[in-house]
Amino acid sequence: MILLIDFGSQTAHLIGRRVRECGAAVMIVPPEDAMDEIRLQKPDGIIFSGGPAFVNQNGAPMVDKNIFTLGIPILAICYGHQLTAYLLGGKVRPGRTKEYGPAVIEINGPSKLFAHIIDNHFTVWMSHGDTVTMPPPGYTSPAKTTTAPVAMMQNEYKKIYSLQFHPEVKHTKYGSLIIRNFLKEICGVPIKRIILKPATFIQTAKEVIGDKRAVIAVSGGVDSTVAAAILSRAIGKRLIPIYIDNGLMRTENYESITHIFREILKVPLEIVDAKKHFLTALRGITDPEEKRKTIGKLYIDYFEKTARRYSDARFLIQGTIYSDVIESKGTKHADKIKSHHNVGGLPEQMGLTLYEPLRALYKDEVRKLGLKLHLPNDIVMQQPFPGPGQAIRVIGEVTADRLARQQHADRIVLEEMRRSGWINKVFQSFPVLTDTKSTAVKGDGRFYGEVVALRVYGSVDIMTASWSRLPYSLLQTISSRIVNEVPGISRVVYDITTKPPATMEWE
Ligand code: XMP
Repeated sequence: MILLIDFGSQTAHLIGRRVRECGAAVMIVPPEDAMDEIRLQKPDGIIFSGGPAFVNQNGAPMVDKNIFTLGIPILAICYGHQLTAYLLGGKVRPGRTKEYGPAVIEINGPSKLFAHIIDNHFTVWMSHGDTVTMPPPGYTSPAKTTTAPVAMMQNEYKKIYSLQFHPEVKHTKYGSLIIRNFLKEICGVPIKRIILKPATFIQTAKEVIGDKRAVIAVSGGVDSTVAAAILSRAIGKRLIPIYIDNGLMRTENYESITHIFREILKVPLEIVDAKKHFLTALRGITDPEEKRKTIGKLYIDYFEKTARRYSDARFLIQGTIYSDVIESKGTKHADKIKSHHNVGGLPEQMGLTLYEPLRALYKDEVRKLGLKLHLPNDIVMQQPFPGPGQAIRVIGEVTADRLARQQHADRIVLEEMRRSGWINKVFQSFPVLTDTKSTAVKGDGRFYGEVVALRVYGSVDIMTASWSRLPYSLLQTISSRIVNEVPGISRVVYDITTKPPATMEWE
């Protein structure tokens, strides 16, 4: 068993997942409980996560220094790396030069952590402010990047290793291998493969719901569809799917959702037309968080009103997945990034018990499960779509007119991504109405219209993303079509920012 000390990392549960994928059990604890849990659980290894704090700052989360003397192997990541240096007498330079995104690491010495890696240089992902400039006495530093002179440090005798970069994210080449090396070569944990079984999810749902009825909020997206598929296999027509049509979804969503529920899952779908009401509520709102909260609240009001009509329902099912939980402040020391409106709980007075069968899974695990449940490929592999819909892709006020323009541009982007086959190579692709104007010449006259930004990127785990290198010819087609076909648009620009630091959505 591996004890994972969470210093407030956005990726703590991703580290946990990588450990689980190797077949080891993992327990996540806050730093203040670490020593007690170590005494109780006697873990085979300890991992320190990253976190948003700086080691020199008041109130920065700490860990008892005796942890380094227990003889239990330790792998410390990012903030954990800085904390290790700080507590053991190394030097940490306060966060003057922050570094977010890809960097190339150079390996210049042996380490069990880098076993089976033949490259001396490879890409890793950084997200840090403080930098370790000198390892503590007794520690060597066999890896560096141009901005992190101590990108890794170790005391192989004491089995203590630390990394400035994040091995848990898919964009770090060999990241999973590094974690596997820690478990197998350093902690001596036997490695097994974990398999996701639909039957286990269906059986658990049967046990939870018993002979009761359950309502589920569906959006047509992967997560709520997979959750509904599990539940429909578990309780059949005792499942009541409800679709609140807020008018903020992709225009093709309506046909897709009716097809899934009526033809494939064969459970009756309740559709509520709330399009006008959402637009009215969004009038005058420009702040992203206010926008999200307004949409979330109205959605919940509608859903609650509809669900109350099924007075014999006892459960509320949601397709919440792990990244939703994390990004809405899932763990004690983590910073809040955005309010994801499908998390946060519906009012308790509804008298329903919440059940989230996918809460522990990441997107790619949900997809694998969906395919194993025999859901069609184009539904399971469709791009994720945010709960607040196109409203967060229309920067500034969402008016009927601007929403229609964004949806028009979105249809063009989707059509061209499909036509070129690039849709299958990217994680998400969409236009953003930027609320910025620029000058153009249309016909022979001056035209002052809005700028559209195109955002297309690849990701596996949602925690990191890199912008897609679309062919110039495809970018040209999309750009020409948007400026020619969508009224009011003067210019198209391409967003070339990685996550971190930029989030995938603009708001
Ligand atoms: P960000 O912008 O946070 O997006 O990097 C990460 C992923 O989450 C999606 N997203 C949401 N999904 N409710 C959701 O269900 C939301 O409020 C929400 N906001 C962002 C986003 O599209 C991306 O896939």
